[in-house]
Amino acid sequence: MGTAIKQSGIPRDKLFITTKLANKDQGYESTLRAFEDSRLKLDLEYFDLYLIHWPGKDKFKETWRAFEKLQKDGYIRAIGVSNFKIHHLESLKQDSDTVPAVNQVEFHPLLNQQELLQYCKREGIQLEAWSPIMKGNLDLPQIIELAAKYGKTPAQIVLRWDLQHGVVTIPKSVRQERIQENANIFDFTLSEEDMKKIDQMNQDHRFGPDPDVFLF
Ligand SMILES: NC(=O)c1ccc[n+]([C@@H]2O[C@H](COP(=O)([O-])OP(=O)(O)OC[C@H]3O[C@@H](n4cnc5c(N)ncnc54)[C@H](OP(=O)(O)O)[C@@H]3O)[C@@H](O)[C@H]2O)c1
Repeated sequence: MGTAIKQSGIPRDKLFITTKLANKDQGYESTLRAFEDSRLKLDLEYFDLYLIHWPGKDKFKETWRAFEKLQKDGYIRAIGVSNFKIHHLESLKQDSDTVPAVNQVEFHPLLNQQELLQYCKREGIQLEAWSPIMKGNLDLPQIIELAAKYGKTPAQIVLRWDLQHGVVTIPKSVRQERIQENANIFDFTLSEEDMKKIDQMNQDHRFGPDPDVFLF
């Protein structure tokens, strides 16, 4: 990646680079070692955001202490977490005054995480949506109807709903035209009524694992 960044000619400060700590590397010393490995492998002086990938069972607090050190030492601009539920965030708060900048979680119309979203807003944690377009499972009548109404695609409707909820969204595509499509969501606004229509689609349905079940 370091080579790709250098060859692109784009100044480093115009890029926002996030990476995550692998679950197997949780723990204080192992986090410091894993981070240094990533930094050297990617040939980067600093990362913009470093995330604890999953809370797991019992190591995320010592991992967080290592994250705080790396941030203090200037290697990371912001530190955050991923797949943390409210009880994980509350537990972290008991041991640390450093509020995670970001919590990256599964978030989409079928899993709208309203309680977690409101909690994160209150605590000053930016929620970030992974699998925001449900891994491409967009064939949902409510979304298709709204796409026709606004003259947008189903993916654009869902991604706009994220933005209007104040959620950072990271759809993935390997196709240039879809990457452009997914970024083209700043020229329309969903009405309050239509936002509610999408909110009502929630089924607490996960495409990925439940963080309370995925333990290691
Ligand atoms: N923190 C975590 O634990 C975690 C877990 C899972 C994922 N993530 C992150 O979240 C990002 C996105 O999640 P994801 O890849 O699972 O799901 P996603 O972004 O919801 O969906 C990606 C799928 O949707 C298709 N797609 C993309 N744009 C589309 C469009 N406009 N219309 C129709 N289909 C479209 C893609 O196919 P094509 O590529 O063929 O376009 C791909 O199959 C990933 O890059 C990953 O870094 C994080």
